[in-house]
Amino acid sequence: MPALLHIDSSPRAASVSSFLSGIFVEKWKQQNPGGAVFHHNTSLERFPYLDEAAIEAIFTPSAQLTAAQKATLAFSDQLVDELLAADVVAIGAPMWNLSIPASLKAWIDLIVREGRTFAFTPQGVAPLLPPGKRVYVFSARGGSYPAGTPFQDFDRQEPYLRRILGVIGLSLIDFICAEHQSDDPEAAAESLARAKSSLAALAV
Ligand SMILES: Cc1cc2nc3c(=O)[nH]c(=O)nc-3n(C[C@H](O)[C@H](O)[C@H](O)COP(=O)(O)O)c2cc1C
Repeated sequence: MPALLHIDSSPRAASVSSFLSGIFVEKWKQQNPGGAVFHHNTSLERFPYLDEAAIEAIFTPSAQLTAAQKATLAFSDQLVDELLAADVVAIGAPMWNLSIPASLKAWIDLIVREGRTFAFTPQGVAPLLPPGKRVYVFSARGGSYPAGTPFQDFDRQEPYLRRILGVIGLSLIDFICAEHQSDDPEAAAESLARAKSSLAALAV
């Protein structure tokens, strides 16, 4: 059965990133009737940050985990299982302070797991997710960070997400950005319309 993992991270009811990811999910559902959808909003669900017990459990070999450590890892394991099951991942990502909301980073800290999604090897870090999963990131930004301008370097969202998702084997990534969302309403609407038409053109 095809499966989609849908991760939103804006706490806002009028979220542009969640609006775009939601359109994508509806399109995917139409084309995959009966497919499974796992959905989270990392902000509304208040995804936990790693504490000392979680870090110790993550780096304990699975055969040596205590019952308490297994319980500590249960949510992280669930999120990794969802990622393993998904053929497609859709992420709604507001740009916050040039990067991503802390709760989306919390999801990343829960799914980038040695032995489950990546391995340390003598050659360096190796991804463990099977190849072929597609990722669509729907980003909303107050401003804009065009390539070839001095503002490009301020964008610590797209380069970071591409790099960290690549570490675990997610390298087929499309970014769709609605920019200017805090600029004048005309520029915001134009950029959103462009994002929607890029979304409509996606072969899901
Ligand atoms: C805490 C916070 C930090 C933000 N930082 C940036 C930023 O660094 N760059 C930017 O272009 N927009 C920034 N914005 C504007 C948001 O990216 C913009 O409002 C976007 O629409 C938020 O996504 P959402 O509509 O999905 O909630 C920030 C907004 C908030 C609330």
